[in-house]
Amino acid sequence: MTGSNGALDFPEGFIWGAATAAYQIEGAATLDGKGPSVWDTFSHTPGNVRGGDTGDVACDSYHRYREDVTLLASLGLHDYRFSICWPRVQPGGRGPVNQKGLDYYRALLDELGEHGIAAMVTLYHWDLPQELQDAGGWAVRDTAERFAEYAALCAEALGDRVARWITVNEPQVVSNNGYRHGQHAPGLRDPAAAAAATHHLLVGHGLAAQVLRAAGAEQVGIALDLHPVRVLGDSRPEELQAARLITEAMVNGIYLESVLHGRYPAHAPAGLLPPPELVADGDMELISQRLDFLGMNYYSPIFLRAGDPGDLRRNEEPARSGVAGVVEYRPDWLERTTMNWLVDADGLHEILLEVSEQADGLPLYITENGRAAEDYVNPQGEVDDIERVRYLNTHLEAAARAIKDGASLAGYFVWSLLDNFEWAWGYQKRFGIVFVDFGNQRRIPKASAHFYADVVRANAVPLPPADWTRSAVG
Ligand code: FCB
Repeated sequence: MTGSNGALDFPEGFIWGAATAAYQIEGAATLDGKGPSVWDTFSHTPGNVRGGDTGDVACDSYHRYREDVTLLASLGLHDYRFSICWPRVQPGGRGPVNQKGLDYYRALLDELGEHGIAAMVTLYHWDLPQELQDAGGWAVRDTAERFAEYAALCAEALGDRVARWITVNEPQVVSNNGYRHGQHAPGLRDPAAAAAATHHLLVGHGLAAQVLRAAGAEQVGIALDLHPVRVLGDSRPEELQAARLITEAMVNGIYLESVLHGRYPAHAPAGLLPPPELVADGDMELISQRLDFLGMNYYSPIFLRAGDPGDLRRNEEPARSGVAGVVEYRPDWLERTTMNWLVDADGLHEILLEVSEQADGLPLYITENGRAAEDYVNPQGEVDDIERVRYLNTHLEAAARAIKDGASLAGYFVWSLLDNFEWAWGYQKRFGIVFVDFGNQRRIPKASAHFYADVVRANAVPLPPADWTRSAVG
């Protein structure tokens, strides 16, 4: 595995890409017959998004997609993950298609094809048609049925140009941030709606996978955000182990076990699971039908340690598991990004091996991984994002090491190609390997883009300097 120059090689045929999502980059929020989505409504409601930012213009990729495809090609990327905005192709989420919306995606796919770039297309990256939200959104089962119809329509119109389909992106975030805690659209704080949404998102995934396959799709998967749960110290092991199992079930298992094994995890708190009357006969088989790959989005681990939630210390937070004597903790020795997310490359190695074991040989793709940083254009006109170079280097090293240790990892998509609309944070948080000047829409590849292009060209990652922190524990 280690090449002559001290780099770690990736297997031949490893897939290298970059990822984006429609609402975060397209703009053109009301153009060419597009209907409003929950994110249009949410971002236009004062107080929801930092600075009142909206995705009305974003990176204007609706008009600049050719430039963006050229950018991908210039970096040597052979794969691009993007999402389709549902209300752009079906404005009210049901009924007739909006031909102009489909034309946009067809033109984008053709442009990618001309550059030899394969498309991984996400059907649902959070921009639900507002009309469906008005009828209950994911809290009602009908939305899953409508989603399958929309999937069929996309497969029929675009299927010959799509290499891989992802049904739903991060159902955990949709149901918790969107329906339980309200920081994302539709901004609800309704635990019952959140539990119902969890199940209906997964049913929607199952139904969409079925219709995609029936339309001839060969590569169908889902993208889950997965979080290694790590325990620090060794006091009160029983409570800590119980808290670990519950936390894992809450953040990973509800989505991972249902999709892989057709059951909700035994350790999940009952309030997070759909009440039995919402689970129809055959639902769990539908949700766990064979996948062709599993998409994993990795950003940060969760740490637990012994502590008193009634008397929190610095860097401690109450544990979501609710287990007495346990707190969540952000170790001081780990770097944090401008999202306040912990940087921990070993967590990626850990979760890749864990999921490989559970998924029993299923090809895995990292469908998102990356970091926010305080990027700026220097007087030379360059963006020298050393933090992101370091992040990519250590995480890619962890990925290569995981493959060597038996993980069935087949591809990697950096989040993100472009700086973009980072949901409730608006444009303040920059995740791109390409800088976007939102004043004039100029794109400037950052140092990390050049680093990533070198990795892709060599199909190998240089060993990070020994003093670059990559490990949290151990
Ligand atoms: C993920 C989302 C993606 C992006 C990154 C930073 O949760 O899927 O759209 O915002 O976080």
